[in-house]
Amino acid sequence: MGDGRDVKLCWKRGEPPVSGNVTWEVEKVFPRPIISSDDLFAISPCQRDIDFPGRLICGDNLAAMEMLFQEGYEGKIDLIYIDPPYLSESHYSSRIEIKDKKAGYAFERKVFNDNWENGMSSYLEHMYHRLVPMKRLLGENGSIFIHLDWHICHYIKIILDELFSPDQLINEIVWCYGGGSGAKRHFHRKHDVILWYAKGGDYTFNPQYRPYTPGTRERGLTRVKGDRYKLKDEGAIMQDWWTDINKILSPTAHENLKFPTQKPLALISRILEAASNPGGLAADFYGGSGTLADACEKSGRQWIACDNSPIALHTAAHRLIQQSARPFAIYQPVGERRALLGLKVEASPYRGDLKRYNVSLNDCQVEGLPGVYAFSYWALDLDHEPGSFVSDLQVIREKHNFNGPLTTEIGFTLSGQRGGAIGVKAYDFWGREYYGVFKAQ
Ligand SMILES: C[S@@+](CC[C@H](N)C(=O)[O-])C[C@H]1O[C@@H](n2cnc3c(N)ncnc32)[C@H](O)[C@@H]1O
Repeated sequence: MGDGRDVKLCWKRGEPPVSGNVTWEVEKVFPRPIISSDDLFAISPCQRDIDFPGRLICGDNLAAMEMLFQEGYEGKIDLIYIDPPYLSESHYSSRIEIKDKKAGYAFERKVFNDNWENGMSSYLEHMYHRLVPMKRLLGENGSIFIHLDWHICHYIKIILDELFSPDQLINEIVWCYGGGSGAKRHFHRKHDVILWYAKGGDYTFNPQYRPYTPGTRERGLTRVKGDRYKLKDEGAIMQDWWTDINKILSPTAHENLKFPTQKPLALISRILEAASNPGGLAADFYGGSGTLADACEKSGRQWIACDNSPIALHTAAHRLIQQSARPFAIYQPVGERRALLGLKVEASPYRGDLKRYNVSLNDCQVEGLPGVYAFSYWALDLDHEPGSFVSDLQVIREKHNFNGPLTTEIGFTLSGQRGGAIGVKAYDFWGREYYGVFKAQ
């Protein structure tokens, strides 16, 4: 009998695309968020040469995976979760509203496009050539979770059966959620499907539990199943349909980062805890707002998150900074740097080896918009060397969802600096970076 891998889906299959030679530049981020300069006395640059438990890669995931192969990551990843485009024929955008005491500003930003030139055929071609290297990156005990919905999940299942074999499908998880829809001629579409494939037979599984239903608690298990079965303290092992985690629906929900298609942290955390162990390495090659990275930070895993949208990259970076995550590295293709026009830095000797700095973005503008509205956050490299940027300190808004004012001037005393240069980077809401440097005489 065949193992099912002889059944194949047909579309116009081409050669694997070549990702080209990308030269990456690396920004090291040591999350130390501030909203004002109230207690910035005798601060010092962070220790630069450490191992980073997380890395954010901005670029096409093919190029990112190529870099990982070159660095020896083949067979090294314990868990891959992906939430790719679904062939939904939508262009996803989000609305940002910034308010402060004086004024406000609102705009719509287009984040990513799920329209495909040749429809399903080009979508499948895209996915196939990415699922192949993802399987190579997985370790022997590793698993991949692919998050999809009714548009395309059945087609991707056949591709995964071909790549992994139908026996390696461990679960088809159905995630059900609420919320309205305008449907009049069909049932409301309110579930996604997450396909779980394991690379080998000895995959990691840490059971997850749910509370017993009130009826079971009252009766106990024994009436139905006999005396051998007893209620367990931890509850019952979870089924493959999950109804206890809702979509992020409210615009004011604390978790809502104004990133369309953002998935709930509880959902990704459950997957991570079920199929990987603390200290392991997890990756998301369609990383969006950084939900997997966040879940890894909260549960002590190492992580890699990639996205080709600079908006996604900086939403994820901002999210991690805001919660004072462990240090992480940002990889981006070397590109043109925009000058941070209007940047002012003043330096003066203070006391002993302390220097006093005052850094101001007050006169910075982006396409006619004052920096206070255009920038989502900004960062300082306290011991800047040409050609690299180390984010030692980040100035963020007080409120989590970009609302409220951004401090555009800070003063601090600094010790332990070697070269006397301060680097400044500001990031706008479209993920563009503006850079300036100041060298104290
Ligand atoms: C459905 S969203 C992921 C949302 C994410 N799970 C979250 O919780 O925020 C899909 C993401 O895939 C990204 N993407 C699409 N094509 C890509 C590619 N070739 N390489 C890397 N990222 C890609 C998009 O920019 C988008 O952010």
